[in-house]
Amino acid sequence: MDYKKLFDRYLLFVNRIIPKPLAPPVIGIDIGTSSIKAVELGLAAGGVEIRHWAIEPLVGNDTKSALKKIGERLRFDHQNLVSSVFGKGTLIRYIDLPRMPLEDLRKSYVFDLDKYFPFDPKSIYTDCSILDPDSKDKKMSVLLAAVKREMVDERLKLFKEAGLELNRVTINSIAIANAFSCLGPSVSASGKAKAVLDIGGSASCLMIFKDSSPRFARDIFVGSRELTKKIANALGIDETQAEGLKRQPGDKLAQIIEACEMPINNLITEIRLSIDYYMTEKNIQVDELFLSGGGSLLKGIDGVFEKNLGLPVKIWDPLAKVHFKAPAASGDIQAHAAQFGVALGLGL
Ligand SMILES: Nc1ncnc2c1ncn2[C@@H]1O[C@H](COP(=O)(O)OP(=O)(O)OP(=O)(O)O)[C@@H](O)[C@H]1O
Ligand SMILES: [Mg+2]
Repeated sequence: MDYKKLFDRYLLFVNRIIPKPLAPPVIGIDIGTSSIKAVELGLAAGGVEIRHWAIEPLVGNDTKSALKKIGERLRFDHQNLVSSVFGKGTLIRYIDLPRMPLEDLRKSYVFDLDKYFPFDPKSIYTDCSILDPDSKDKKMSVLLAAVKREMVDERLKLFKEAGLELNRVTINSIAIANAFSCLGPSVSASGKAKAVLDIGGSASCLMIFKDSSPRFARDIFVGSRELTKKIANALGIDETQAEGLKRQPGDKLAQIIEACEMPINNLITEIRLSIDYYMTEKNIQVDELFLSGGGSLLKGIDGVFEKNLGLPVKIWDPLAKVHFKAPAASGDIQAHAAQFGVALGLGL
């Protein structure tokens, strides 16, 4: 008698009849340079729903106080907390490798870390993911991610000092990739690729997707604050006034757009370089650009991108496909919808 087999069968049976515990809610916390955005997501019959949300501006770099205020609004309890880091010290690589199971990939890629990342292997945390696990191709698309250890350790420390325990840390662009794959516009397998640009306060994150799966990511260090500075210069006003006008341009819209054209064109030059590189390397056309992030809230910014990039450009609303659980009424989150892409992707 094979007792091991018998025991395995017994376990299988027990696993089938015992109801699975519900997955605990997840809170995605995006610590940006302008504000912290957080959403609590739970599973409901209709799919994922937002249970609570909060946005807290960062004043004078006091991230800890802002995080505590977020904690008071969301009442952290037993939820899983997920946050992210971005910018210098983080890197994502999209590579093709011979197909193998994830466990084998995990064991093997770590021997080639110095080939994939320009960092001392001892100074980073890394992870990997297979992007096309169901494909029958001999080659597989793989995402490799690396983050400087001190960045992750600092983030853990920040949460600890705010009295919170962080369960996972990832990279902003991976969070946006999650959000865009799950909540982005439905795409047909057209053989073409889509680009997404999340315009934050200090930086922007460009990603290219093929069939809803991320294939390229890059941070560009131009954000919406740059636009504020140019508006202030052009109109001879201080940056607080310029920020107000950027949000509510009224009859000054034409002047504001004109002042913003130069930094937007700097972004466009970088996007063009990346898209051309991707198209040449992969021989795949990129046929559309989606904008998200607080910077995309500037009225008419999509028009400037479309005119100067020469591609159709649309604003992506990450909340368009999400349900809200009463009493977490959507309320004024809609006014900030574009800023919640990263937080949603973390929660997902
Ligand atoms: N209604 C609006 N109209 C125009 N710009 C806006 C509006 N609301 C916010 N912004 C701009 O969006 C930026 C903040 O966006 P977001 O919240 O995505 O950035 P962040 O995540 O804090 O920054 P980063 O990603 O660079 O760390 C600010 O520079 C702000 O001026
Ligand atoms: Mg951001």
